[in-house]
Amino acid sequence: MRLQERVAIITGAAGAGIGQATARRFAEEGAHVVISDAHPRRTLEVAQAIASEYGVKTLGVVCDVTSREQVEAMVQQTLDAFGRVDILVNNAGRNILAPVAEMTDEQWHTVIDVCLRGTFYCSRAVLKPMMAQRHGNIVSLSSVAGLRGSEKQAHYCAAKAGIIGFTRALALEVAPYNIRVNAIAPGLIYNEFLRRIYPDEFFDKAAPQHPLGAYGAAKRHRPRHSLFGL
Ligand SMILES: NC(=O)c1ccc[n+]([C@@H]2O[C@H](COP(=O)([O-])OP(=O)(O)OC[C@H]3O[C@@H](n4cnc5c(N)ncnc54)[C@H](O)[C@@H]3O)[C@@H](O)[C@H]2O)c1
Repeated sequence: MRLQERVAIITGAAGAGIGQATARRFAEEGAHVVISDAHPRRTLEVAQAIASEYGVKTLGVVCDVTSREQVEAMVQQTLDAFGRVDILVNNAGRNILAPVAEMTDEQWHTVIDVCLRGTFYCSRAVLKPMMAQRHGNIVSLSSVAGLRGSEKQAHYCAAKAGIIGFTRALALEVAPYNIRVNAIAPGLIYNEFLRRIYPDEFFDKAAPQHPLGAYGAAKRHRPRHSLFGL
């Protein structure tokens, strides 16, 4: 129960991936979790499910991270409900495969806005309460794609690399307030949504690129592809 009575906001937490798995793991450790996602039905369903499964308080807030107004309202709702916010996980993300030569302005802006602008809006919105309470923890999802590049994902790679720069700068700014700011850069983390949008070859190619010969999974189940039968 390492997070007992802590209050954690996780954006993009109503999907099948890292966001919901993080919310569940935090709840397992006793945190009250704010399930924030742009998908209305799933947001409320996931918030209810986690409350009943883990016995913690939850709040489901429908929020598009690219909207400053919605982000600020979401943080205010959190403060109204719990009186504090200890952890923010900037998890909401979008990716649309497109080679740069054919990438539309809309594809570029959509991916950059959800990944990078959303991270800025959500981080900025929690800073004042975290600075006032002299405690906080912000974790943003970057990606190996932001470290080493990936075909047809230049916008995503740029945004995820941008998150690393943003994280480093913000960490320096708010360290005196006892606020820790970190980024995580996962390799491929399997989920049912990715399974539907990417072809089999994508997963076949991805597994050997990971040092363990297998990609990860947001749920605790064995990855389908593993070179070493892990
Ligand atoms: N899955 C991977 O292989 C992988 C690898 C490296 C990094 N990441 C990053 O980890 C994070 C989680 O990815 P995941 O694949 O585990 O999926 P996930 O299910 O955790 O996150 C996607 C969620 O984000 C929500 N979302 C999309 N646009 C939004 C918006 N504008 N406002 C609010 N919510 C929005 C979606 O509704 C969805 O529920 C993302 O930032 C992703 O880029 C994922």
